[in-house]
Amino acid sequence: MAKRALASAPGKVILTGEHFVVHGEPALAMAVNLRAYVEAWTGGEGFRIEAPDLGLTWRGVGEAPKPLAPLKLLMDRLLEETAPQRGLWVKATSSLPPSAGLGSSAAVAAAAAKSIGAALSEDLPKDEVFELALEAERLIHANPSGVDPMVSTVGGVIAYRRGEGYVAVEAPIELTIVVGFTRSRGPTGSMVKRVEELARRFPEVMIPLFHAGGHLTLEAAEALREGDLERLGELLNVNHGLLCAVGVSTRKLDELIYAARRAGALGAKLTGAGGGGCMIALCREAEADRVAEAIERRGGRALKVRMDREGVRLERVEEG
Ligand code: PMV
Repeated sequence: MAKRALASAPGKVILTGEHFVVHGEPALAMAVNLRAYVEAWTGGEGFRIEAPDLGLTWRGVGEAPKPLAPLKLLMDRLLEETAPQRGLWVKATSSLPPSAGLGSSAAVAAAAAKSIGAALSEDLPKDEVFELALEAERLIHANPSGVDPMVSTVGGVIAYRRGEGYVAVEAPIELTIVVGFTRSRGPTGSMVKRVEELARRFPEVMIPLFHAGGHLTLEAAEALREGDLERLGELLNVNHGLLCAVGVSTRKLDELIYAARRAGALGAKLTGAGGGGCMIALCREAEADRVAEAIERRGGRALKVRMDREGVRLERVEEG
């Protein structure tokens, strides 16, 4: 019997510790209420992958276009276990801007693993969804820390360390975060390489700086647990300074960040890989609109996000 399964997974913002997390330091990340949706169906003839947002379709012949390669990999992995009678069609849509540092590729990968698994009658647990999504992330950039697929899979706010896993960080308050998109794309792989290259050339300078980033994350997690937004905001500002030091900010990001701080944000920094993409501003609810307006006036696209608690989830499975 053919099955149609729909799954979704949230995008994320990195609150602290991006880049340093690639080098073994902890990072603090929050899943956000913007989701990627992937539908998988075993009723169609042959194999097919569609991403209408990207205007791309692969019809099962030849190599999949590069942006669809992670979905193809997940398809292949899950088909190793069970082969459907007819075929497998996969369709991905997302409310997350791609390559903006909001984790759209990891969210698509986590939702795809879950929905393809369900269409093939496998209820994949979260640890398997994470492993598969991490493997798919390796096609996007060679050395992913795993923080994106982890937070997309488990949801909430997590402190994550490469190779060790995560702890959930419970906050006694709702965080109000305004995201500012620079409207230009940040290429994660080349930004990660740039930081690696700096670390290779100046290890005595860079390694202590990465450690400082790790300590900063531990302090930020503590501030969050205590609901101390002012302290958290200050730490976000310091974190942005460290990210400037490793060369991943841009003039546009800095403009949006300073505009947000001037408009009353408790703290603001770039989020994700940098080189474009997004910044985040931590605000009191009462200041959020003013901060969003300031970001827009500077030419950014502002978006207020909330925490998503749930992570990856199966929306529905139907026979036929
Ligand atoms: O996917 P992005 O652009 O949010 O970047 C992820 C964060 C990095 O630390 C830069 C890379 C990684 O794999 O952790």
